Amino acid sequence: MCGIAGYIGRDQAAPIILDGLSRLEYRGYDSAGIAVYDGEKIHMQKAMGRLRVLEEMTQHGATLPGFCGIGHTRWATHGSPSDTNAHPHMNEENTIAVVHNGIIENYAVLKSRLEKKGYRFASETDTEVLAHMLTEYYRGDPVEAIEKVMHRVEGSYALGIMFLDHPHHIYAARKDSPLVVGEREDGKFIASDVPAILHYTRSVYYMENEEIVCLSNEHTRFFNVDGESIQKEPVTIDWDIHAAEKGGYEHFMLKEIHEQPQAIRDTVSPRIRENEIDLDDIGLDEEKIRGLRRISVVACGSAYHTGVTGKYVLEELARIPVEVDLASEYRYRNPIYEPDSLTIVVSQSGETADSLAALRDAKAHGSQVLAIVNVVGSSIAREADNVLYTWAGPEISVATTKAYSAQLAAFYLLALKFAQIRGTVTPERFRTLLDALRRLPGQAESLLAQKEKIQYFANHYLATEHIFFMGRGIDYALCLEASLKLKEISYIHSEAYAAGELKHGTISLMENGTLVVAVATQDALYPKTVSNIVEVKTRGAFVMALTTFKHNDMEKCADYVLYVPETEGPFMGSLSIIPLQLFAYYVSLGRGLDVDKPRNLAKSVTVE
Ligand code: M6R
Repeated sequence: MCGIAGYIGRDQAAPIILDGLSRLEYRGYDSAGIAVYDGEKIHMQKAMGRLRVLEEMTQHGATLPGFCGIGHTRWATHGSPSDTNAHPHMNEENTIAVVHNGIIENYAVLKSRLEKKGYRFASETDTEVLAHMLTEYYRGDPVEAIEKVMHRVEGSYALGIMFLDHPHHIYAARKDSPLVVGEREDGKFIASDVPAILHYTRSVYYMENEEIVCLSNEHTRFFNVDGESIQKEPVTIDWDIHAAEKGGYEHFMLKEIHEQPQAIRDTVSPRIRENEIDLDDIGLDEEKIRGLRRISVVACGSAYHTGVTGKYVLEELARIPVEVDLASEYRYRNPIYEPDSLTIVVSQSGETADSLAALRDAKAHGSQVLAIVNVVGSSIAREADNVLYTWAGPEISVATTKAYSAQLAAFYLLALKFAQIRGTVTPERFRTLLDALRRLPGQAESLLAQKEKIQYFANHYLATEHIFFMGRGIDYALCLEASLKLKEISYIHSEAYAAGELKHGTISLMENGTLVVAVATQDALYPKTVSNIVEVKTRGAFVMALTTFKHNDMEKCADYVLYVPETEGPFMGSLSIIPLQLFAYYVSLGRGLDVDKPRNLAKSVTVE
């Protein structure tokens, strides 16, 4: 995600801000920018690419003198990575400068309203609406203008703001995107994450949702969204710097597992407006969607697994035949392209060589290509006809977790939208599914509380040599991912099986104590999977089952049961995967392995 650093005090601001931003580099970004107020003018410098470029341009801050400033590293969401789209953004008069983390969901409506009033936009970003809105509401009192803007924008934000009228002041505000304020005797700081300021101070205020702060050399004043003054107490940070980068988590993977509710929320919520799904930007009009005769999903690794789930969900809800291919197979198998079909390429990095080659092949054969991608401006995003971005934020751990969850969410959006247009779900069922989709992030959050139970179980299986995952339907698709997760970070051999397929060969591997993880969350298939559990138990297997709370009769046949909350059947994978990611994580941790950087693997596979 993007990073924010700001400073006001007795030292030159720019070097401190650049240093703060450099400590947020691990979060990933594609451009950086800084604005410094020298008491007369707000000077700004932005640069695409690494922070090093901005540092060189500004001679490490020396060309931007001043004691007050804000800086930003941008990870593109709205608008491609570029100098113009980099933050800070300023109003036309250059009197207000803004940096922003998060997504302004109603920016399109706000932008067109502002344009009608004559405001001219320089960038493609959602953030720029904030600079113009602040101009619109500013009557001399910055806090009042910020309040008014906060009452009107929807979405998530952490903001750092400077007003030309108010030298030696920085303003900041937040909602659903982290922001901290640091203090020491000779200076004050704002940052999106603690590591940015930990070298300067350990005395920190955590901003809560819908709070505003005004920093000057003399005061640190907090306000609520109605402009009323509020009192806050600073806390002392005692983490070491390394732990701070991971937000206090031991590994990026654990941090990213915890970011999944937000990743799902950020992917889904900007696309739901007034009980409708808005996918106008994916280049498929209603006629095309109605006429679709086939969808091909192409991807690698975990992205392929989301495609397998996508097949179940799209076929069930939208009644379109879907085929799913590994990109490395697809590109050489001379696939058959038909008119009225759509190719969906799924990729977190957007740089996977095989997926990119498959995309090019599909385009060369005239197929329309929709990419589900996490990294804005990546090769796959650029070359696809249209993109449905997952807003998971930068993923650092090699083992994907939050990007996988965001990809699933993207498939749910597509399936629901297609189903509605094709009339394959009733309006009532559509509403029920939409409500369920909205509830998913909260349910995912509740699952994270089961961590200790999963760690306890994982610790008993650190020495296991083989693990089998089995399930039917969507549960099977989920098993593919759970098995891959375990393999890649624990180095334990594991296999995922469609439960009904076991007796066609693999059951011969069952012996006393073999660990089988059985997933049974689909009501219609539940009795079938239970029969398969009985079959493997009869051959001596130890079964850990994962099911929903209502199926507590599972305790009678499985040895250990993990429960997940219930959602609509097509969306169950988003909940069931979380305990199994945690299982893989704790096994890897218990075995003393490098969780975030497993041997032989790279985060982005740009070679064949
Ligand atoms: O960046 P992509 O989504 O295209 O990457 C595809 C796979 O390389 C990736 O999902 C890989 O399997 C992960 N390490 C799984 O955790």
